[in-house]
Amino acid sequence: MEFIPNKDDDTKMVSKVVSFDEVVKTSIETFRNTFGSDPDVAACAPGRVNLIGEHVDYNDGFVLPMALPMVTVIVGKKNGTPSNCDVLTCFEGTDEDKRAQFDSSSIAKGIPKWLNYIKGVMFHYGQTIPGFNAVVNSNVPVGGGLSSSAALEVATMTFLEQLTGKKIERSSDKALICMKAEHTFANMPCGIMDQLISVCGQRNRALLIDCRNLITQQIPFDAARLAVLICNSGVKHELSTTEYPARRKQCQQALELMGLKSYRDANERSLNALICADEVLLRRARHVITEIKRTAFAAEMLKANNFEQMGKLMTESHKSLRDDFEVSCHELDILVEAALGAPGVLGSRMTGGGFGGCTVTLLRKDSIEDAVKEIDTIYSRKVGGKYRARFFLAEPADGARIINLNNY
Ligand code: GLA
Repeated sequence: MEFIPNKDDDTKMVSKVVSFDEVVKTSIETFRNTFGSDPDVAACAPGRVNLIGEHVDYNDGFVLPMALPMVTVIVGKKNGTPSNCDVLTCFEGTDEDKRAQFDSSSIAKGIPKWLNYIKGVMFHYGQTIPGFNAVVNSNVPVGGGLSSSAALEVATMTFLEQLTGKKIERSSDKALICMKAEHTFANMPCGIMDQLISVCGQRNRALLIDCRNLITQQIPFDAARLAVLICNSGVKHELSTTEYPARRKQCQQALELMGLKSYRDANERSLNALICADEVLLRRARHVITEIKRTAFAAEMLKANNFEQMGKLMTESHKSLRDDFEVSCHELDILVEAALGAPGVLGSRMTGGGFGGCTVTLLRKDSIEDAVKEIDTIYSRKVGGKYRARFFLAEPADGARIINLNNY
């Protein structure tokens, strides 16, 4: 992760994110101070940003996310008990208890809420888990639409594999366990995208996921010429807890009205069945059908180094999410509009579930500073100081992995 200071005004420094090494070191120190010994198991998993393919993972579509350099880290050790678990988090900004004890042989969701992601993965892992102590730390912004929850789930999964020695061989199975955890322990009926990219991310690659069969393809990303700018609107995407399940339901209803089993069997002509039936469902289905097509095309364009076309598709995706799927918001629209007028920008769109959170902008590497300045100025002016944009520059990074504690 890099940060771009706005040289004209120190108060406009872009967000400082703690480095990977610092995240690991803090967790080790916290473990030592809390439990009086060194951890011997450590794992991490990244957050993600989705380049294109929004709200289509639960509709058998294609998505094209990349893993971020920001990660959630878990360090820990067996504590010699059959099932007593003691977990502590270093997360900033939570009002909840930062430490909790529970029994791995009788897992149930409860409070603190952050622990439910860990418990959910333990529950669905399907293995006996011995008692352990652990510390969780992260530099993925929480509630910003960069999949901090998937990062926590996949980090937990990777940690448990190492702790118990029972590895889940297939990446997709690993991601599915984490997705189930999110459905049942966090009440969020998400698709598979966030968890699968957190497992499978690769440096300098975006990941094309076919969500119908979970087949993945690594797509080279020319990080020497291209930059991915993430702009956090500052608007928390809380609406997504009610609106996300509502959108899922509408997509399913539209599919049934079209008389189809999968959106992959649909095309623009299929929409005729909805024209007289329901105007809202028509627009929802139109987004899904066109977004699946755009994403498949975008992956081809990225592969062919046709960045202009890739950018255009991202911008079209935003319009479709704004007008047909109605998951954008005023602040995200302003960020996208500001980006599209900024130098070197190839395309821009909201990313993730929507209703706040972040935009993702594809731009030429040599224009970063000018583009950030311009977006920041326009956003500050148009949202009237209510929210402050935060900027991150991300290159596609590696997915979940074990951390070698000898290096610390
Ligand atoms: C959230 C969900 C994902 C996906 C996106 C929208 O991030 O967790 O599964 O549906 O929204 O594309």
